[in-house]
Amino acid sequence: MSATAANEPVRTKTKTISVTSGKGGVGKTTLISNLALLLARQGYRVLVLDGDLGMANVDVMFGIRVTRTLESVLNGECPLRDVIVEAIPNVSLIPGGSGVYGLQNLSVFQKKLLLDQVNELNDRYDYMLIDTAPGIDDNVLYLNSAAQETLVVVTGDPSSLTDAYALIKVLNKRLNEQKFSIVANMVQDESEALSIYRRLSDVANRFLCVSLDYKGFIPSDANLRVATKTQQLVVRAAPRSPSSYAIQMLCENLSHSKSLSAVKGGMQFFWEQIIGVA
Ligand SMILES: Nc1ncnc2c1ncn2[C@@H]1O[C@H](COP(=O)(O)OP(=O)(O)OP(=O)(O)O)[C@@H](O)[C@H]1O
Ligand SMILES: [Mg+2]
Repeated sequence: MSATAANEPVRTKTKTISVTSGKGGVGKTTLISNLALLLARQGYRVLVLDGDLGMANVDVMFGIRVTRTLESVLNGECPLRDVIVEAIPNVSLIPGGSGVYGLQNLSVFQKKLLLDQVNELNDRYDYMLIDTAPGIDDNVLYLNSAAQETLVVVTGDPSSLTDAYALIKVLNKRLNEQKFSIVANMVQDESEALSIYRRLSDVANRFLCVSLDYKGFIPSDANLRVATKTQQLVVRAAPRSPSSYAIQMLCENLSHSKSLSAVKGGMQFFWEQIIGVA
């Protein structure tokens, strides 16, 4: 009997989406974790790559403890499959640890070892969400450039905006990235979000050859702050709160995204790009 077959999403190549920012603390990890939960609820299989050594990591958001990271794989201590942990049903996590910082400097042997193991991940996930560190370090640039869609999170803080611009500029000039999705977080309402987006896209259009796509906003919400403090995800803890509604809308936009690059995509492509094989 295949009672669930009708509800199952159509399987395609893994969509790879990085969530990034110029400035730290703008809500990347919060957004990724809540998105992962929402996508999982729709029946999608999600893999989160935690590419940040920041304070609140994805494992913390899901209330789990990880012991091994990608570093253990690169050191040959264990296979990739052993560091992947299931945070909740349909959401798995690769804790990057400091392994992410070494991905561009692997030996030929390490590259082959990793890619052979990545092969096993093909077709297993519908989405791969990549949480990057903030800023313009090489590892951040490569993670973003390898992903099919780059979602830049900005807030109304002027330095968040200038740092987001700096990140977009470096990705454009150095890695020829041209498409970016923008999410405004911790705003009062949509009109503030749109004004932030316009400010960013005005400068970008004037000085760079890029297109910025407005993806939505998340209001500043005490419910979200409380959820984080108690290690919960707001879409679960307070599903009717303003931030939960907003993240649901964002999730809708993402799953019907036209911002996905047609040439990039798939698990293999992503890993080949970050380790510099392709
Ligand atoms: N919409 C919001 N309303 C209220 N608080 C928020 C909102 N979004 C994020 N926060 C709070 O901001 C803080 C930073 O969020 P988060 O850790 O997700 O940011 P980050 O960009 O991943 O940070 P880092 O750059 O350090 O990795 C958290 O305490 C979180 O609860
Ligand atoms: Mg973070």
